[in-house]
Amino acid sequence: MTKETMLYTRDLIFSAIIRVCHWLRALSIVALVITGFYIAWPFLVAPQSSDVLVQGWIRMAHEIFGFILVAVTLARAYLFFFSKNNIERRSIKDVISPKAWFTQLKAYLWMGKAPHSGAYGPLQFVTYMGISVAAFFMCVTGLVLYANVYHLGLGGLLWEPSAWITQMMGGLAVVRLWHHYITWVFIIFVLIHVYMAVWMGIRFKHNSVDSIVSGYDYHPHHDEHEGK
Ligand code: HEM
Repeated sequence: MTKETMLYTRDLIFSAIIRVCHWLRALSIVALVITGFYIAWPFLVAPQSSDVLVQGWIRMAHEIFGFILVAVTLARAYLFFFSKNNIERRSIKDVISPKAWFTQLKAYLWMGKAPHSGAYGPLQFVTYMGISVAAFFMCVTGLVLYANVYHLGLGGLLWEPSAWITQMMGGLAVVRLWHHYITWVFIIFVLIHVYMAVWMGIRFKHNSVDSIVSGYDYHPHHDEHEGK
């Protein structure tokens, strides 16, 4: 039996700022889902003393992570459109190509590989766009809820636009309900996202998860001179 040696090239996929944004989003989403569900269903019995406000502390934590998410959502939108490295924007080429969709869907069904023009496959790109829009929606509705909890400072500044959005959405209760419903989009997304990231790495033998930690992915090296 001969032993084959496979050479790999190391490619930088995600810059440090993109990786930091990814993990800050991951952390804030997990914290927001947990604290958000507690706000919706405060199951701990309130202590007799009125100066121990469990709900208030949990809401404060929710808002701190909420503001982290607002900052990262804005930074991430800026980076998507204006970063020098266009590895994300290059994927748009695949999104508008029916052939790229077809090869990608075939690859998901274990038929062949699906090389991308950029960092993502077309379905992956559309899903990430969708979750970014959902994050934007949660930031807007979250800030509306915030303006109704804190009336001074930033809350006061946000009061007028919040009142307008509240009216557009049909009342504060509706804002709160949609903020709650869309939470489920994040739970479903995170489960599928983690599964797919691990599956892609195993199926196509590359560093799909590591690239969002170290920034690098490894691909089989094709030596042009040897025509491999
Ligand atoms: C992925 C992001 C987020 C998730 C999953 C999430 C989840 C939730 C949930 C489940 C609730 C309870 C709703 C209910 O009462 O049924 C809630 C309430 C709330 N959220 Fe969020 N949230 C997110 C982002 C944000 C952001 C960005 C902000 C603002 C900066 C924010 C501010 C608030 C406020 C102020 C409340 C209401 C607190 C209250 O009624 O006392 N949330 N959130």
